[in-house]
Amino acid sequence: MRNLRLTLSFLRRIVNQGPILNTRTSLPNPDILRSISNITKSDRKIPAWIDASDPNTLSDLTDSFIVYNDFISEEEETSLMNELEPYMRRLRYERDHWDDAIHGYRETERRQWNAENNSILKRVSDIAFPPPTPKLAYVHILDLEKSGVIKPHIDAVRFCGNTIAGLSLLSTAVMRLTHDEDESKRADILLSRRSLYIMRDNSRYLYKHAVLGENESVFNGQKIERDRRVSVIMRNEPDKNISER
Ligand code: OGA
Ligand code: MN
Repeated sequence: MRNLRLTLSFLRRIVNQGPILNTRTSLPNPDILRSISNITKSDRKIPAWIDASDPNTLSDLTDSFIVYNDFISEEEETSLMNELEPYMRRLRYERDHWDDAIHGYRETERRQWNAENNSILKRVSDIAFPPPTPKLAYVHILDLEKSGVIKPHIDAVRFCGNTIAGLSLLSTAVMRLTHDEDESKRADILLSRRSLYIMRDNSRYLYKHAVLGENESVFNGQKIERDRRVSVIMRNEPDKNISER
């Protein structure tokens, strides 16, 4: 148990200490990406789930972050919770995380699922990790209590590749993305209950992500009721060409 907790803790870190990787060596040239995306951008609609600080940030993020509302049905949410709850219930919510990234949470990893839940997770991985992307065999379950928060951080590149995919169960929440080197570039993302989000490349490497607490949860000026939220998160294997500085 101890070791497992330690492993999970390493998945995330606060990056106030400075940038954690040198992306320039391994990510595509941003100018090329920008010129490609400008061609198609003008007639693209702004998705309802994002509220960005400015058009450039919006374009940066809609290229590398997506939310699928109602990705799972109520029955599927119940099925996932039925399998997870007996185990989660035995854990206590932790109020302090060793690196201060997260408060009011309990978590575990799971590899084996019943047939119904397996097919739900396969739908996630078919979209988020099309072959041959090697995804991590263990799925991460993070249970935030009603008052729980995840502070701004970037998942450690040592333990996770370019893609993070998360199902939100039991509660809607607001995720805030903030550019690691320019705090004025930011966006709030509405993660509705039973949605799936996929965060990859720029949004995963260049922006910190946070899940706001119940009092801060506002989207487009509208208060969002936060309750206990369970996320089911899949990641791919670390990219060996990217290392922390
Ligand atoms: C994490 C994290 C987001 C979520 O566990 O590193 O950022 O959707 N989780 O729960
Ligand atoms: Mn994270």
